[in-house]
Amino acid sequence: MNEVIHSPSEGSRPHGVEGEQQVARWVRRMFDGVAPRYDLLNHVLSGNMDRLWRARTVKRLSREIAALDAVVIDLCCGSGDLMLSLAKRRGATVFGSDFCHPMLIEASRKAATHKAVTPLFEADAMNLPLASSSTDVLTVAFGFRNLANYEKGLREMYRVLKPGGTAAILEFSTPPNRAFRRVYDFYSLRVLPRIGAMLSGRGAADAYRYLPESVRRFPDADRLALLMSHSGFQNVHFDRMTFGIVALHIGVK
Ligand SMILES: C[S@@+](CC[C@H](N)C(=O)[O-])C[C@H]1O[C@@H](n2cnc3c(N)ncnc32)[C@H](O)[C@@H]1O
Repeated sequence: MNEVIHSPSEGSRPHGVEGEQQVARWVRRMFDGVAPRYDLLNHVLSGNMDRLWRARTVKRLSREIAALDAVVIDLCCGSGDLMLSLAKRRGATVFGSDFCHPMLIEASRKAATHKAVTPLFEADAMNLPLASSSTDVLTVAFGFRNLANYEKGLREMYRVLKPGGTAAILEFSTPPNRAFRRVYDFYSLRVLPRIGAMLSGRGAADAYRYLPESVRRFPDADRLALLMSHSGFQNVHFDRMTFGIVALHIGVK
């Protein structure tokens, strides 16, 4: 078990990019380019399933976010879809955070349209400008996979959560059924990058080549659960959604 956990640090590795800082810079630049069309691409490429995955995440956290004095932070909030769904529930104060400025502008614009009060701050999820033990709930939807070092990301989440606080990671995963995985691989490796390039234009085409590669490299659901447990989280468990394309991991500090 120790050998497995102490393998070289795992994290996002875009093709040809070395070093954690360089990875973070590459990822941020990629999302800069994607931001204006991110929502459209998300909904088209997932056949609107992304809405369902976020809705199930909010439902799963309904008890934790109901308290009026609870502080919830949606990390890697992007254009703010999960943050706004969390904020729609009456209760906690929901903040959004991301390190890509254009994404935060989109999130701010959408929050204004929805008349939602969701303070935003620009920060790297691996180095949050937050006091230790200051947060009740941390969520990350489709952002965690992009971190340059997953263990550092988990340790940072653990640090800022209050004892008893909850971390929820919604992320792409590896479908366990081999036959389904073949169909899914065909879609994600052959079809998705083409649609992505068509809709996003040349500037953001890299993003839709990176997406399937990063999903294939990302730890499967069991391994992510193990990484969470080794970072100190307790009661770690996960729910697979849509044949395991996506998994929601929950852990408690
Ligand atoms: C695929 S988008 C997901 C956005 C949103 N959570 C959603 O569900 O649609 C990933 C987001 O994670 C952000 N991100 C990636 N790595 C990050 C990091 N190290 N720190 C902060 N944000 C990061 C990107 O800027 C991008 O906005």
